[in-house]
This record gives sequence, structure tokens and C-alpha cells, in this order.
Amino acid sequence: MKWKANASRTIWIIGASSGIGLALSEQLLKQGHKVAMSARRTGKLGELAGEYPDQECVAPCDVTDRESVQKAVQRVQKCFGHVDTLIFNAGICEYIDDGDVKASVVEKVINTNFVGLANVIEAAKPLLKAHSGVQIAAVSSSAAFLPLPRAEAYGASKAAVSYFMHTLRLAMQKKGISVNVICPGFVKTPLTDQNDFDMPCLISAEEAAEQIIAGLQRDKREIHFPHRFTRFLKLLSALPLGLQQRLTGSLVKA
Ligand SMILES: NC(=O)c1ccc[n+]([C@@H]2O[C@H](COP(=O)([O-])OP(=O)(O)OC[C@H]3O[C@@H](n4cnc5c(N)ncnc54)[C@H](OP(=O)(O)O)[C@@H]3O)[C@@H](O)[C@H]2O)c1
Repeated sequence: MKWKANASRTIWIIGASSGIGLALSEQLLKQGHKVAMSARRTGKLGELAGEYPDQECVAPCDVTDRESVQKAVQRVQKCFGHVDTLIFNAGICEYIDDGDVKASVVEKVINTNFVGLANVIEAAKPLLKAHSGVQIAAVSSSAAFLPLPRAEAYGASKAAVSYFMHTLRLAMQKKGISVNVICPGFVKTPLTDQNDFDMPCLISAEEAAEQIIAGLQRDKREIHFPHRFTRFLKLLSALPLGLQQRLTGSLVKA
């Protein structure tokens, strides 16, 4: 369901300490919403919380640790009682070079980006009491649209997030809960600052946050941006695999 104009929502952002999550927290607090913010590092969150003492709740957690997620849920419950919109944004990116698969890397990336999402959704049940307008959103990636170079672990984790969320919607919509999947292109953040290749159509974290909020306000099932990049990837994904992989091989230089 679309957000009611000028109504304050209670929003929990997991992965709020930098990049897209921090920009989302700043913009939502500025707009007057109540925002619970989670991450392992809480320094930045504490600073932001100080500026909006009546609207914020800092709930530290490591999404790979179910006990710590449970504690964060209890903290959010104590602060606000419930959540209208949950945004799972926590994520890490590690590449696989030259097909040299490291199971430990795959495990770490999948544990944070995908299993972490399931940990949070399971623990958050008491916060997400079905009432009209409840949303569960997860930040996936446009890397989930098609296989991209070196993204064996990261792309697989995000493809899992997208599949999981689109499937979860089938059950949740019967309960009146919306499920939103967010697929950004390249966004300038500490995560992408480590990339050693040219990133086409790179946008700022602030612009990404604006796009995400606009998409959630309209309750879009899939929020993808910037369109000039994500539409191109969607087009590529519709091509025969051989042709697609010849083109993507040169899209991101390995
Ligand atoms: N930047 C891009 O181009 C891009 C594109 C598509 C999708 N995305 C996705 O967007 C999301 C945000 O990424 P970003 O680019 O803004 O990167 P970022 O600045 O590195 O932010 C990642 C956030 O995830 C949190 N996080 C990581 N591991 C965690 C854990 N185990 N438990 C709790 N929180 C954890 C980090 O907090 P702590 O380290 O403090 O825990 C941080 O707040 C990620 O899911 C990423 O995959 C990014």
C-alpha cells in the first residue's frame, strides 16, 4: 500500500551505518519519520541520533548472528512497539578473481547478504503486525538481473535475495504485507570505492536514497535505478546467453 501523504512512518533500516543506508536514515529522519537504525558500527548512528532525539532508535546488530538480531528486535520494540517499513540494506561485496572460487568468500557473502535477510525477517515477526501498509523491503542489486564478471558470490547472493523476496510476496500479500525489492545500479559508497574498474552510470548515495524512498512511497514491487543503466541490463538479460555473455564480458573490466 502507498504511504499516506504527510503521515509519519516507523521505519527500521538494517545496514544504516554508511553509504545508502546512512543516506536513507538521514533523509527519512529529515522527513519526520521515526527511524530505527542497525549495523555493527554505531558511531555514525549515535551522531545522527543526537540530531533527532525524539525520532530515532539505535539498535546495533550483526545480521549473521541470530542472537544479536533478536536483541536488536527487542530494542526496536522497546523504542517504537512496531515497524511499518523494514528495509534490509546490510550487505558486503567480495569478488572472485579468474574463477578462483574460495568457498569461505562465498559463505561469508551469502551469510551476510542472504541468510542475514532471513535472520532479520524471522526475528522481526513481532514488530510487523499485519496492518494496512506494512512493508518488508530488501536491497538486492541489478547484478541479480544477469551474470556479471567476478560476481559469482555477490551476484548469487543478490539473485537469492530477489528470488526469496518475490516469492515471499506471494504469501505476504494475503496478509496485507507488501514486499519490495530494491535493485540499484552502481552507487558511490565505501562498498564501491573498492572497485578497480570504471562504474557506468554511477550515482550518489543521496540520489539512491531518494529513488528508494520514492519507490517505497509508491509501494513498487521492484525499485530499480538509474533507469538508463538498469533498463539496459534488463534488455541484455533477455538476449541469448552466448550473446549476452560476450557483451557483459566487456561491460565491467576484470
Ligand atoms: N553501492 C552500490 O553500487 C550498490 C549497488 C547495488 C546494491 N548495493 C547494495 O546496497 C546495500 C548497501 O551497500 P552500500 O553500497 O551502501 O555499502 P556500505 O556503505 O558498505 O554499507 C553497507 C552497510 O551494511 C552493513 N553491514 C554489513 N555487514 C553487516 C552485518 N554483518 N551486520 C549488520 N550490518 C552489516 C554495514 O554496517 P557495519 O559494517 O557497520 O555493520 C553498512 O551499514 C548492500 O546490500 C549492497 O549490496 C550497493
